Amino acid sequence: MTMGYWVYILRCADGSLYTGTAADVDKRAAVHNRGKGAKYTRSRLPVEVVYREACPDKGTALRREYAIKQLRRQDKLALIADYQGKLGSCMKKAAFIGAGNMGGALIQAACEALGPEQVVITDHAYAKAEELAGKLGCTAVQDNGEALRQAEYVFLCVKPQVMEGVVKALVPALREKPDTVLVTIAAGIQIATLRGWLGDCSPAILRIMPNTPAAIGMGMLALTGEPEAKEEHYQAVEAILAKAGRVERLTEGQIDAFSAVAGCGPAFVYPFIEALADGAVKVGLPRQQAMVYAAQMVLGSAAMVLESGKHPGQLKDEVCSPGGSTIAGVAALEARAFRSAAIEAVEAAYHKTVDLGKV
Ligand SMILES: NC(=O)c1ccc[n+]([C@@H]2O[C@H](COP(=O)([O-])OP(=O)(O)OC[C@H]3O[C@@H](n4cnc5c(N)ncnc54)[C@H](OP(=O)(O)O)[C@@H]3O)[C@@H](O)[C@H]2O)c1
Repeated sequence: MTMGYWVYILRCADGSLYTGTAADVDKRAAVHNRGKGAKYTRSRLPVEVVYREACPDKGTALRREYAIKQLRRQDKLALIADYQGKLGSCMKKAAFIGAGNMGGALIQAACEALGPEQVVITDHAYAKAEELAGKLGCTAVQDNGEALRQAEYVFLCVKPQVMEGVVKALVPALREKPDTVLVTIAAGIQIATLRGWLGDCSPAILRIMPNTPAAIGMGMLALTGEPEAKEEHYQAVEAILAKAGRVERLTEGQIDAFSAVAGCGPAFVYPFIEALADGAVKVGLPRQQAMVYAAQMVLGSAAMVLESGKHPGQLKDEVCSPGGSTIAGVAALEARAFRSAAIEAVEAAYHKTVDLGKV
């Protein structure tokens, strides 16, 4: 199931409550906070998100928004209190094993979502964990088992090659804490494989697939789990991941395809930006400016696709005037099979991911 849309409630500066829907609640809240959201919130800044509810699609979210808007204020406050109580009780503490590139990005998101006092981290190189903890205000410990003992949710952020050893070494601590929820971020390692390493321990397991823009809160992240994983586990992990970017729930069978487009995708886009800048340099712009203009253009174009809801082909058509310069550029890309190359890049990445998962 994809979780495309959210209903949210904002508490405005005057204490009033505003209900809305959005694909990305934090982004929408930022728009309200700039005075560019609904008319209602414009004179009631600042606003704070006090309630979020994931819906499978936009239509469901709109119906739920309408239902919440019909509630009396005291019932809305009860809904909010219930939600915040659940959030507080379902996510007490998170541990991160591995404070490298991706672990570091998620640790930062967890510190924002839960408060640094709720986050404990470890790394093979303790000095690395200690340095990051010093920067973010969370706690570094030396031993993976000790991190697990201190937390309800344990994020496994080591490389796939060392995951088996790390997971097996956690078994004694897991026996003492069977309610632990493990969250793996390793590419290509299926939940069933991880479960096989745990022997007679049977913690709930979730699997996430982040991408590198998560480091600046602009990631695209997928979340999956076994059918028996509880809703509260998903929601607790989503609350963290939401600080790292946009989150969708997928089936595990979709993760490799997701990984090929969203995980590997940044490496397809960076050379595109670089090449566009090369073109601009060739026709006379200084390198630094060319790079900024190309990158900002890609960022803006991506935002147009997401925010307008229009098909990219339609947006392309809207830029191309008859006999103009843009269609001349589009034709040059087509002559070099640009779109086929992009399709093949995702397909090649997908097949390689599937192969790596078999090893
Ligand atoms: N980077 C991405 O774009 C991306 C995207 C999706 C998923 N992932 C997944 O994220 C995971 C981490 O990748 P990464 O790029 O963040 O790797 P990374 O930068 O190498 O981070 C892994 C960290 O774990 C530490 N570590 C190794 N063995 C450990 C142990 N026994 N106990 C505690 N810490 C240990 C490593 O320390 P040492 O360096 O000292 O060994 C390193 O600091 C991988 O499973 C990868 O598949 C990454």
